[in-house]
Amino acid sequence: MTDKRQALVTGANKGLGLAISKGLAQAGFSVWMGARDRTRGEAAVRALRYEDLDVRFLQIDVADDVSVRRAAETVRAEVGALHVLVNNAGIVLDLQTSPSGLSMEDVKATYEVNLFGPIRVTQTFAAMLKATGDARIVMMGSGVGSLTLITDPTSLFSTVNLLAYSSSKVALNAVTVSFAKEFEPFGVKVNTVEPGHVRTDLNGNSGFLTPEEGALTAIKMACIGVDGPTGGFFGSHGRQPW
Ligand SMILES: NC(=O)c1ccc[n+]([C@@H]2O[C@H](COP(=O)([O-])OP(=O)(O)OC[C@H]3O[C@@H](n4cnc5c(N)ncnc54)[C@H](OP(=O)(O)O)[C@@H]3O)[C@@H](O)[C@H]2O)c1
Repeated sequence: MTDKRQALVTGANKGLGLAISKGLAQAGFSVWMGARDRTRGEAAVRALRYEDLDVRFLQIDVADDVSVRRAAETVRAEVGALHVLVNNAGIVLDLQTSPSGLSMEDVKATYEVNLFGPIRVTQTFAAMLKATGDARIVMMGSGVGSLTLITDPTSLFSTVNLLAYSSSKVALNAVTVSFAKEFEPFGVKVNTVEPGHVRTDLNGNSGFLTPEEGALTAIKMACIGVDGPTGGFFGSHGRQPW
């Protein structure tokens, strides 16, 4: 057991998850870097340990009940507490497809990771988070998860039409609100963040922000104090419209 504050980031082996893990470790957390693939996860852990950061690998496939349960058992057995959960893992399968041409298989696979994943992980780690009395949960949302922005003709997001990805992130916002209401009496704050358009494999590295820049809002919301908000949606400029 340790007194150090514990954080878990899912999908931490690359992109935003790797940058968020680095930022949280630099902020003083002991970070569990969640990855579904051991080889990729351990390589990412080695890279951050090389910078003297307190990180360790946790095998967790957010789409798999058994994997998530095992991951929670590992954290409970080794440190017994979780102060920050960043539900970051995500996929997009409909970049090349129109909404009417998208297979139901891809819709379900997207929801399994982007929507059911955060629900599954949050439920499974809920007891450890509530027990700390001041935990923070960050859901990795998206600008295309804002119904206001995707229907605003003046917004860049209105040009994007991704049925599965966008609707998974819209629904994730409602999930944030639900958990925020339930966990408020336990001092747990739950917020969605929007990282901006970030250069990662998710978008073929087409974004204009670096992962380190995109990670900043998630790190900030993972570290908010007792006066900070809960049940909200935030980007680099503050509150985002739903
Ligand atoms: N990049 C952007 O501009 C942008 C904008 C808005 C929101 N986001 C969101 O930010 C989050 C991170 O995306 P990114 O841009 O960093 O993408 P990325 O570089 O493709 O990273 C995605 C991460 O999620 C992991 N992952 C996928 N399925 C998983 C599963 N079933 N279980 C556990 N991990 C899984 C991937 O692991 P593998 O390496 O094993 O595939 C990878 O570590 C996502 O939720 C995404 O929707 C990104």
